[in-house]
Parts: sequence; structure tokens; C-alpha cells
Amino acid sequence: MAPKHPQDAVYEASISSRESFWTEQASKLHWHKKPTRALDIGTKTLKDGTKHPHWTWFPGGEISTAYNCLDRHVAAGNGDTAAIIWDSPVAGNRGKDGDWKSVKEVYSYKKLLEEVEILAGVLREEGVRKGDVVLIYMPMIPAALIAMLATVRLGACHAVVFGGFSSPALAQRIDSCQPRVIMTASCGIEGAKGAMSYKPLVHEALKRSKFQPGKTLIWQRDQLRWDPVTKEDGERNWQRLVKSARNRGLKAAAVPVKSDDPVYIIYTSGTTGTPKGVLRPAAGHAVGLSLSIPHIFGVRGPGDVMFTASDIGWVVGHSYIVYAPLLVGATTILFEGKPVGTPDASTFWRIVEENKVNVMFTAPTALRAIKLADGDNSFIERIGQRGGLKSLRALFLAGERSEPSIVKMYAHLLEKHGADGAKVVDNWWSSESGSPISSVAMGPALEGRGHAPLPIKPGSAGKPAPGFDVRIVDDDGNEVKQGESGNIVMGIPLGPTAFTTLWNDEDRFYRSYLKRFKGKWVDTGDAGFIDDDGYVSIMSRSDDVINVAAHRFSTVYSSLSHVDGSIEQAITSHPEVAEACVVGIPDSLKGHLPFAFATLGSHDHPHTAIPDDALFKEVQAAVRSQIGGIASLGGMIIGKGMIPKTRSGKTLRRVLRELVENAVHGDFDKEVAVPSTIEDPDVVGVAREKVKQYFEEKGKDLHKATEARAKL
Ligand code: COA
Ligand code: AMP
Repeated sequence: MAPKHPQDAVYEASISSRESFWTEQASKLHWHKKPTRALDIGTKTLKDGTKHPHWTWFPGGEISTAYNCLDRHVAAGNGDTAAIIWDSPVAGNRGKDGDWKSVKEVYSYKKLLEEVEILAGVLREEGVRKGDVVLIYMPMIPAALIAMLATVRLGACHAVVFGGFSSPALAQRIDSCQPRVIMTASCGIEGAKGAMSYKPLVHEALKRSKFQPGKTLIWQRDQLRWDPVTKEDGERNWQRLVKSARNRGLKAAAVPVKSDDPVYIIYTSGTTGTPKGVLRPAAGHAVGLSLSIPHIFGVRGPGDVMFTASDIGWVVGHSYIVYAPLLVGATTILFEGKPVGTPDASTFWRIVEENKVNVMFTAPTALRAIKLADGDNSFIERIGQRGGLKSLRALFLAGERSEPSIVKMYAHLLEKHGADGAKVVDNWWSSESGSPISSVAMGPALEGRGHAPLPIKPGSAGKPAPGFDVRIVDDDGNEVKQGESGNIVMGIPLGPTAFTTLWNDEDRFYRSYLKRFKGKWVDTGDAGFIDDDGYVSIMSRSDDVINVAAHRFSTVYSSLSHVDGSIEQAITSHPEVAEACVVGIPDSLKGHLPFAFATLGSHDHPHTAIPDDALFKEVQAAVRSQIGGIASLGGMIIGKGMIPKTRSGKTLRRVLRELVENAVHGDFDKEVAVPSTIEDPDVVGVAREKVKQYFEEKGKDLHKATEARAKL
């Protein structure tokens, strides 16, 4: 039998020899106290007596992620290596000729350590202690990363909230995580639109939230200052506090935490409006990322440069802008800007050229935006032809499905212009998993033993990653035959980077992930298949979450939720809307967009499916102000008696989702799967007619899919 490919061999060892495999991985890190073993599996009991499986990676250990990201590298003599290179076209001044001059800052490991030690000292003086939460609401500037690392240095945990979320969404997260301190900036700089003040957003959020953190640290940016900083309201000038601490020699040493203690909370959308606080366990996170970054991404340590064009508000940003590159002592590029328009579609390739980037990571949406702005790829071709992309070994894509055409196009461009053997790699994961659940691994190709990576299959997200036991099951939890589609689930335990619970809500952890398959599998919320070679393809969500430009949103109205948070809730806050149902509609740029079906409360409901412009604008404004511009609706249909329900009153979003998907592909009359539990089957016919009318009059040219119909 031919020897196994190293990716397959590593995977097998990670599952079948868990203790020895992960103990060896753990030995690569600095432990304040070594763990007694790699893994404990037991059970937890909920308040109502329900028992469910629970696991702990590296029990008995104590670790500091900040120490492993910084002190360790400085102690090893790598203090002068660049840790962070910040590149911000939007913070730069435009030259007289209209040219954009990026602002750049380089933080060596030594300098970054010093900044983190001092800020940690400041945070301690402001009352932050081990176990506390610090909420970070920041643009993509070095201070944000320093804030994350300083929090973790104190053994506290951060909750980074994406800077594009509106005040109500921020307030909801403040109430949930009850932070000791909020760290923010005077402004973000949103693409070519310029500076946007954070002050009204933070003030409004604090007005709305029941919980009051007491302190707000404000990083003042020259583009737009936060004026005045009101001390009586707990506001503090961040730079002034740091200056004072520096003068006084105030620093904080790394405080270790127990393996299972959280290193951060990241909020993600579930199937209700209330976001879920995914908890990242400290040790599993550090060990898992320290394996994934060389093994999957091929970023091994000092000298390697990684450019992850995401945002620190998302999990991809946490793992591959911040923690993973720093854990191995590599250089990370922190980019403040957009793939297009800041100033143009050449920006990503300029950054690769200027910094000799080895590995890039972004969302397919960003590549679609570049393709739309630069249809003949003139920028990448020009930079490529002068050898500017020769350092690039891989372009990783995640956050949403990559259509084969985009993978193939960039594979071809990288073959021409990238490093020898450069690949485009679709990898699949989630806030819950913390690192790829499946991918093709680039590491084996760098080991100098003549291994090429496993072949890339466009349309598939590669093979399961170390530690993740991926299966496809039917609705009863039984495994389906290889190649057949079904629910994608994972066996227990999950890989070390993954969550093991939700912030303050063990019940919801059980209900959201374990209950559906009776504790046997962890539900991922995704649907797809595994082919005969073991490659996983992610085809759609199996729940009511939608994915817009690789951002995840909850659509569902929940009467249980005490605060607004879902798109349906935002829509029904409009006084004229009696009921709303939101589904994802295919979109050629962002993968999907939220699309609303609304029933108005008026006695004489209009006959037309198309809302008048004023109403649509008001509803859109409600969504944008309650969630954020990133959740903007792609369209809306109005009608009476068109939202299907089960007899028990559950909205059948899947039926409407299928109708709009069919319509986008021109299949208006195609049958849709209607469950037998539907209250009134005629409602589907009404919805079908409304969809048809909308597409005939308005939607035909507005909505296009990224790819021809995916077969499920
Ligand atoms: N702060 C404030 N506002 C923000 C924001 C932020 N951090 N991020 C986005 N917004 C606003 C935008 O300005 C825009 O407002 P507008 O509707 O008034 O113009 C709205 O939210 C929608 O933003 P976005 O979804 O980013 O769309 P866009 O049209 O501005 O840009 C792309 C399109 C393709 C360039 C952009 O979606 C993109 O870069 N996508 C890649 C996604 C990504 O990297 N995801 C990471 C997950 S791995
Ligand atoms: P988030 O938690 O915001 O990172 O969103 C995770 C979800 O994004 C997954 O559950 C998938 O639905 C989707 N997703 C992430 N990566 C991929 C991918 N490579 N292919 C298809 N869907 C993806």
C-alpha cells in the first residue's frame, strides 16, 4: 500500500492517537504549569437534570497566550522580527495629485511586548483583574491588537465587537458580557467615505444598555477626535494613560490562566436575535492554532509573512490576523481598508508585493469585488508580471462558499505569478471552531521531503483538519453513504481550538449544538457532502442563519428575545409592518443578501408585491440602525397570507428561501419541498405569485447567483 499523504497521516494521528499527538503539539508552547494529560472527556448536568458530553483539553495546565505570543519570542532572540505591519490607505493623506499614500507602522516583537506590558499595567490600574471581561470596539489599528493582547496578559478575556455594528447591537453585547472596561477609538475610517465618529455610537449603546462598565478608554485618532473626553462619565484618554504609565515604568507581567479558562468571547449569530457568546478556551486555542498555522497555512515562524484581509471583529481576524501568526513568531499584516476603492482593486496585490507576503487569507466576496472592479485582472497581472507576487505560496478563502469559477481563476493567476506550486485553498470553519474544520494543508509542501499538497478540488473545502471528526448525517443523526448530502456534524470532542460552551449559557450550548442529535454529534448548521476521496463540500446552511459577505446574521424573530437583534425584529419595529420573514437571496457579490417578505398591518393591504420606495427606505433604515449597514436588505416583497407556517406556528423560512433561489435561477414554477405540517398549503401559492411578480417588475436584474445551481 502506498504511504499515506502527510496531511492524511497527521489527521489520522490527531483522531486515533489523541493523547500522544496533542501532548506532543502542546510541548511546543511555554506552560506556566504543564497539563496532566491532553484530554478529559466527561459529562455536564444542566439545571433540569439533562446530562451531556463535555470535554477539556490539556486539563491541569496553566498557560498565558500573551506570553506565548510575545515574551517567548523576545526571549528566544527574535525581538527584532516584525510582529505587526500596519498598512492603512484610508488613514493616509491624499497627495496633491490625488494619490493615496498609505500610512505604515511596524511593530517588532520587542516593541509590541513593551506596548502590551504597559497597556496591561494601565488596565490593571483601571480595575481589570483576571477573569474580567474587556469589550473592544475598534477599527483596524495596532492599538486594537495591543488591547487584545494586554487584556489576555492580565488573564482577563476580551470581547471584540465588529466596528460596523450599530449601537443597539453593541448595547446587546455590553449587557451580555458585562465588561469591566470598554476600549474604543475616536473614529473608524470607512473605506473612501472617511472618518466616522465612534462617540455617538458608544454613547447611544451605553444609554441603551442596562449594564454600565464604568470606564471607557478612548484611542484618539488625528482624523477625528473624541471631544471632550468626559472624566466624570468614566472616559479616559488612552494615549495619556499610556504616557503616564510609561513615565512611571508601570508594566504588567503575564498572568497565566487555567487551560479551560476563556481567552476571549466572540459573539456570533444563532437562530434567535440574541447573539451567542462563543467562549474560546485558552490552552486549546494556543495549541490548536500553533499547529494549524504551519500545518494548514504553511506559516512557520520568523521570516514568514501572513496577510489576512478580514477584521478583528470576526473569528478569522482573531485567529489569523492576531493569535496564530504571533504564536509562531511570524509577521502579520494589519490592513485598514477595503479590497476595492481604497484607492482601487490593486491594493491587496500592492501589499503582497511591498511586504513579500507568503500567505494571504480573505473572503471570496473580496475577490468578487476585485473582479467586478477590475474585470480583466489588469492590476494583479501588472504586479505579477514584474515579479511582485513571487513570494505568495497560497491564497486561502473562507467565511462563505467559494464558487469553483473564482477558485479556478485565481489558481490560474497564482500559477502564473505566485511562488512555485502556489494554491488557492477554500477552507471551512466557524466562530465555534476557531480554526479550519476542513482544508487542504500547505505545510507538507514546505517540509522539504518532496510532498506536494493534496490536490485542490474547486467547490470543495478540502479534507477534515486535525482534531475535527466530520460526518454527514440524516435528520435522525444516522450517517449517510459517502457522497450523499446531509447535515454536517462533528464527533465529540471537537478539535482543541473549538468552543466547549457558551458564555454564561450552558443550556443554550446544549440546545443549539447537541440536542438535535441527542448529544451524539455537534451540529454545525451547515449542509453538504463528503466525496469518495474524503473532501468536504459545504453547500448551504441547514438552519435560518444567513451568510452575507462572509458575515453571519440571524434572521429570525424571537418573542423570547428581550432585546432586538435579528433582521426580522428590526423590520417589524416599523409601525406599518405586522409580520416579516427574512431569507437569504443569492447575490453575485456577497454570496447572499437578506431578503424580506413582509405583511403590512393596514386594513386594505396593497395588492402589489412591490413596496413603495418610501416604505422600503424606512424599513432599510431600521435594519441599518438596529444591526448595521452590513445587514442591509437586498429587497423586499409585501403581501398578505404569503408567509407559510406550521400548525404549531413556526415560520417555514426554508419554503420562501427555495422560492427565491428558484426565482434567481429563473425556475419560477419549480416544486418546493413543503412539510406535511404546513398549516395552509395555499399560502405557498400566494408566495410563489408574489415572487414572480417581484422578479418580473423589479428583481430580474438585481439578483444573480455566484454560480450555476448547486445540486444538493
Ligand atoms: N464600520 C462602519 N461601517 C461599516 C464597517 C465598519 N467597520 N464595515 C462595513 N460598514 C458599512 C459600509 O460602509 C457599508 O455602508 P453603506 O451601505 O452605507 O455603503 C455597509 O456597512 C455594508 O458594508 P460591506 O458589506 O462591507 O459592503 P461594501 O459595499 O461597503 O463593500 C466589499 C463590499 C465586498 C468590499 C466588502 O463587503 C468586503 O470587503 N467584503 C469582504 C468581507 C470580509 O472580509 N469578511 C471577513 C470574514 S472572513
Ligand atoms: P462565522 O461563524 O461567522 O465564521 O460563520 C461560519 C459559517 O460560515 C459556517 O458555518 C458556514 O456556513 C460559513 N462558511 C465558512 N467558511 C465556509 C466555506 N469555506 N465554505 C462554505 N461556507 C463557509
